[in-house]
Amino acid sequence: MKNFSRIILAAAACAVLLCSCGGQTRGQFAYDEEAPSICEAFKDYFRVGAAVNSWDIEDPESPQCKTILKQFNTLTLENESKPENLHPEENKYYFDKFDEFVDFCEENDITPRGHTLIWHSQCPDWFFRDGGGDASAELVLERIKDHVTTIVSRYKGRVKTWDVVNEVIGDDGQLRFSEWSRLVGDYDGDGDNFDFIEAAFKAAREADPDARLIINDYSLESSSSKAIRMYNAVKKMLEDGTPIDGVGFQMHIGNGIDYEAMKENFKIISRLREVNPDLIIEVTELDVNCYGWNEAPADVELTKDFLKQFSTTYTDVYKLLMELSDEGILDSVVMWGLHDGVSWLNNGHKNYPMLIDSDLKLKDAYYDVIALVK
Ligand code: XIL
Repeated sequence: MKNFSRIILAAAACAVLLCSCGGQTRGQFAYDEEAPSICEAFKDYFRVGAAVNSWDIEDPESPQCKTILKQFNTLTLENESKPENLHPEENKYYFDKFDEFVDFCEENDITPRGHTLIWHSQCPDWFFRDGGGDASAELVLERIKDHVTTIVSRYKGRVKTWDVVNEVIGDDGQLRFSEWSRLVGDYDGDGDNFDFIEAAFKAAREADPDARLIINDYSLESSSSKAIRMYNAVKKMLEDGTPIDGVGFQMHIGNGIDYEAMKENFKIISRLREVNPDLIIEVTELDVNCYGWNEAPADVELTKDFLKQFSTTYTDVYKLLMELSDEGILDSVVMWGLHDGVSWLNNGHKNYPMLIDSDLKLKDAYYDVIALVK
């Protein structure tokens, strides 16, 4: 009898545990058949994706590939579609990895994103040189047109979204000073230095009129001055006829957010709908850095309080993104990495920025996030 009541008690405890987890046992492998799927959970709000690498999708039976197939319905290549890999030398393109990626996405009903056509980083120097010296503005513009046209037209109708330019607003809130802005400058003499950006967007629109063209940047969610500069820059370019369809919020954030401030910053960008009524926002590189930027602290301790904060950060962000989806301005959320073990934020210290841990297990925060969907 004593044993029998113990069994009853244990069964009741299990039932309570299951209920409190929305019917899911915590700590499942992300690729388990029984595990929940984050993209499925948010299907009425937005696509959910990750940045991956070609080796993650090579073997459909590998745990990482099974995780991708189960959890995500949009994907970005983390590095292999950047200019230094795709177009390292003038007149030489290396499309193999990107081709395979787009095929994989198509076969599996996943929306592929193109990242990124023009960036000051991971971009080969040949774009900016002519013989021993600087290339002229005309030559750089010609190269932008060739680069963008060749890539975008190759994937016409297949890559639905392009980060056309990346990180063009500087930390001071002005247009970032880069080789692009230095060499092209105010070529058309209209008083702004956006000409290299405009050239890239126009070439992309011509190459694939149906692709969504995004201007992508970081700290838009946390810095109102940066959000305002982005607003002003995009407004001016839209008014000048530049085909910008959306703004990408990278969202490399820290553990803990100011919800209202973040909401305000999204609102600043949303106001661009006054100029382009169809303007969209995409979250393109979400992760939660467990360390501050520019610090060299000891390894972070994953205390209960820290993990609770981590969960709150993710749930706050997803809550806000659901609100934006309800307003019809956001339909895609990509996280920057497949799991903690492969995040770019593991430099110097082990980092834990993702919803999936380095064993490919779903974290508590993952379950808390999907519990937001009733
Ligand atoms: C990062 C990759 O994750 C790293 O592997 C690489 O060494 C550097 O670039 N903003 C971006 C991404 O737009 O392309 C960056 O990706 C992260 C910051």
